[in-house]
Amino acid sequence: MTAPEPRALPWPTAGIAFGGDYNPEQWPREVWDEDIRLMGDAGVNFVTLGVFSWGNFEPREGEFDFGWLDEIMDRLDAAKIGVDLSTPTASPPIWLHREHPEILPVTRTGQRYSQGGRLGWCASNPIWRRYALRVVETVAARYGSHPALRMWHVSNELGGGNRKCYCDASAEHFRRWLLARYGDVQSLNDAWGTAFWGHRYADMDQVLPPRDCETAPNPGLALDFSRFASDALLEHFLAERDVLVALTPDLPVTTNFMVSTGPHVVDYARWAPYVDITANDHYAAGAGAVRAQDVAFAADRMRGFNPGAPWMLMEHAASAVEWRPRNRANEPGELIRDSLAHVARGADSSLFFQWRASTAGVEQFHSGMLPHAGTRTRIWREVCQLGGILRSINEVAGSAVEAARIAILVDDEAGWAWNAGQKPHNELPLPQLAREYHQVLWERNLLVDVVSPLTNLRRYDLLIIPGLYLASNATARAIDLFVRQGGRAVVTFLSGIVDPTNRVRAGGYPGAFRDLLGVVSEEFYPLLAGDSVALDNGWTATTWSELLSSDGAEIVARYSSGPLSGSPAVTRRKVGRGEAWYVSAWLEQNSLEQLLSAAVAGLGLQPPAQAPQDVEVVRRVGPTASYLFVLNHGVESATIKVRGVDLLGGALIDGSLTIPAGMVAVVKEL
Ligand code: GAL
Repeated sequence: MTAPEPRALPWPTAGIAFGGDYNPEQWPREVWDEDIRLMGDAGVNFVTLGVFSWGNFEPREGEFDFGWLDEIMDRLDAAKIGVDLSTPTASPPIWLHREHPEILPVTRTGQRYSQGGRLGWCASNPIWRRYALRVVETVAARYGSHPALRMWHVSNELGGGNRKCYCDASAEHFRRWLLARYGDVQSLNDAWGTAFWGHRYADMDQVLPPRDCETAPNPGLALDFSRFASDALLEHFLAERDVLVALTPDLPVTTNFMVSTGPHVVDYARWAPYVDITANDHYAAGAGAVRAQDVAFAADRMRGFNPGAPWMLMEHAASAVEWRPRNRANEPGELIRDSLAHVARGADSSLFFQWRASTAGVEQFHSGMLPHAGTRTRIWREVCQLGGILRSINEVAGSAVEAARIAILVDDEAGWAWNAGQKPHNELPLPQLAREYHQVLWERNLLVDVVSPLTNLRRYDLLIIPGLYLASNATARAIDLFVRQGGRAVVTFLSGIVDPTNRVRAGGYPGAFRDLLGVVSEEFYPLLAGDSVALDNGWTATTWSELLSSDGAEIVARYSSGPLSGSPAVTRRKVGRGEAWYVSAWLEQNSLEQLLSAAVAGLGLQPPAQAPQDVEVVRRVGPTASYLFVLNHGVESATIKVRGVDLLGGALIDGSLTIPAGMVAVVKEL
């Protein structure tokens, strides 16, 4: 599928969007009065309605009760609160599941889910598609011209509850998808290497999804099924989107991604061109610096889909969620810091799940902007404070985050390929590697775009390729060109190992990048738990090493302990106007810091401001001014050098600004 041209549609709010998911149907009318009043107090200007409302406006098939939704849309409009109206397909009504249980997804062990969850449908089921599009048409026809409506929100977190479906309808759809990809069964057999175990298909009809069997499935089959699952959901998204665009061509359409470390169920980089505004739901994990970097990584990945364009933080939590084993509440100030960390990195919104904490239903203990305890609470005070802050920095909206000169290349397809089949190290959390490289740069306030193989690499000076297990020839060529034209690439172990069919590239690792790097790795030496290996420059590695030789590359460091002692561990090769590094081991934090210091040396990369440890600084640049976001994640106050106007306090800063522990400043620079 060729990606469409972007539609230049306006941002749905004047400035930064502030608000969240609003589920008024869970409450009596008198609560609505209070909701609208309190939204006014907090400065809410945007809410998402209708995400799970289908059964509430169509309680029986064909019997509609839109009265409540009409009323709340009108009330929100009167209060000048814009609406992001959702199609309700994230939650089919009970009557539909009773009538057509065959639309429910089936697990790989063959168990069909029951009613009662969310996203209880299979994207390949034609009956489901018919009902889904019918309800989308009904909603779009009724509200398409409502003055409160600013944006469409298709379903919710596609690929959440319905990650992958292994039912017969999916099997049939999968076979059609394979036919379009491979043309005939012989090419499919070649691609998947089905001569192995004699698992040749005589006919396309014999192919099944990778359902439960005695061993891991064929890696080619498993990878293609992951691609198919993402494409099947995309096809469903596009079917809903097309209905909306046909009726309301001037309104933006989005759907909420769940971008984090990945690999995701849905290949968001390949979906991004199909949404008018990229939107993310992010529930920060961990505490302290780990959590702050978790926010930064996801935000840098969102920005990487479309560098320079704003994106939307569609959901995050005002405090604890309820779906982790233990749910940590936010520390004082954390709600504001989290929100502004997203804004600093390009979000033109701060939206929450959800406005008012539910008292019933599965999520009855999920925090809300308005908690169970009401308005005499820390959460509510911080929500109102955040609303005020966003108003004070509203002019930041539309500005771009200062262009990053470093990119980290990640790819969901590569992650799926790594997760398919059996590997030399079956407990290796390969996607975590990108987080570790990102963390070192994040700690130095060197901005990174987390990009995909679809990104044009020309704007970057340094490209980090951490464990890009699958690389196509096109990706390898793009990276080769990047280096020849003067870029610097750092490629790690387990990159370029397989081609797009998940077949190992023979001739030595790291297959696709061997020539560029001037090295050949002949055997993997994964380390056992607790083991480590030394390098002769003082660095240490755990988890992974390999038997490497140079084929034209300069040796930066050799292994100096263990069975690989004396052989190269880290290399560098000048190619064209650039250079390409190879890192054959999983370096420990200190060693990684030194590696990255060497990798950035001479590139003239500077943070936006010199800041003490635990202080994050990011610059956004608008047409007439630039804005420095300073987030103090530490436990002590921090001072940085800056000149400008403190947008939160209004004071003129004549050279130095002190930010108390846990606090944030946004400075309009002079
Ligand atoms: C999101 C979802 C919301 C809500 C939230 C809870 O994944 O879109 O509807 O369930 O999680 O954290």
